[in-house]
Amino acid sequence: MSRPAVRFYDEHPDLADLREEVIRGLSQRPKSIPPKFFYDARGSTLFDAICDQPEYYPTRTEMAILARHAAEIAAAIGPEAWLVELGCGASRKIRLLLEALRPHAWVGVDISRDFLRGAAQTLACEYPWLEVHAVCTDFSEHLHLPLVEAGGRRRVAFFPGSSIGNFDPPQAERFLRGVAEALGRGGALLIGVDLQKDPAVLDAAYNDAAGVTADFNRNLLVRIRDELGADVDPEAFAHRAFYDAWRGRVEMHLVSLRAQTVRLDGHRFPFQAGETLHTENSYKYTLDGFEHLARRAGYRSQRVWTDERGWFSVHLLQVVGGQ
Ligand code: AVI
Repeated sequence: MSRPAVRFYDEHPDLADLREEVIRGLSQRPKSIPPKFFYDARGSTLFDAICDQPEYYPTRTEMAILARHAAEIAAAIGPEAWLVELGCGASRKIRLLLEALRPHAWVGVDISRDFLRGAAQTLACEYPWLEVHAVCTDFSEHLHLPLVEAGGRRRVAFFPGSSIGNFDPPQAERFLRGVAEALGRGGALLIGVDLQKDPAVLDAAYNDAAGVTADFNRNLLVRIRDELGADVDPEAFAHRAFYDAWRGRVEMHLVSLRAQTVRLDGHRFPFQAGETLHTENSYKYTLDGFEHLARRAGYRSQRVWTDERGWFSVHLLQVVGGQ
């Protein structure tokens, strides 16, 4: 049986980008490395496993919202759209919408090349009526869909999982504005946004008992060791995650368990015992706070859906103006 074609566009950042950003991040005080580097194939698999942990409520809660309101979401978006899924990972969530939405095409965008290829191929097999494109790129800096032509159809982006929370608010605004430009006139964005809640729930979600989030966090050091050839022992760092209510964000760090020096390309990065490498922020919004952000970035809010506990929200935003 012939396999349905996936159009694959590869703009994967090369190792030089990872090397440069790691050296820059380890040279800063406090030390920090952007979370986009979590997502090699192992990191994406670990993230998928996080989504299945009982403490990690965002995935289940968002999926329940999407499943419950799929018909309304589809009616608000309309059929035959060009559906661009940002950070699509294993594309579990889009399956909840595809039958109701009946888009013309799905364009998966992700930084994790092999993972993206697999997800796109599976989707193409499961939905033979769907045109499937996959763009491997780092969309966190600038979303650019160069080779993919929407042929006059409406572009709709889907950005689930509250990945917007991994940007700080000014970056999030810039990012959303860039997405609006890429979508153009008539475009829309369906976006999942995690909400502020009891800190105990948030602390548990980022410190699962099985230790999957800890492995995900340490995977950054595994990559730096294996791909860049750094002299670093991932096991000499502990996972730490906590909710900072004042900033409205969960912070993730790797804490050096002893005084040690990480070596990379002739650079030496000394760590004191207890010193941390900041690896991720995950901002939690209020409904009003997120709507203000979206407005500043050039959108009009059309609909918002939440769960009964008010833990998570899914927003349908319309691009205002555009070319
Ligand atoms: C991808 N992103 C929205 C996740 C989050 O919740 O910030 C990544 C993650 N980090 C730890 N657990 C999950």
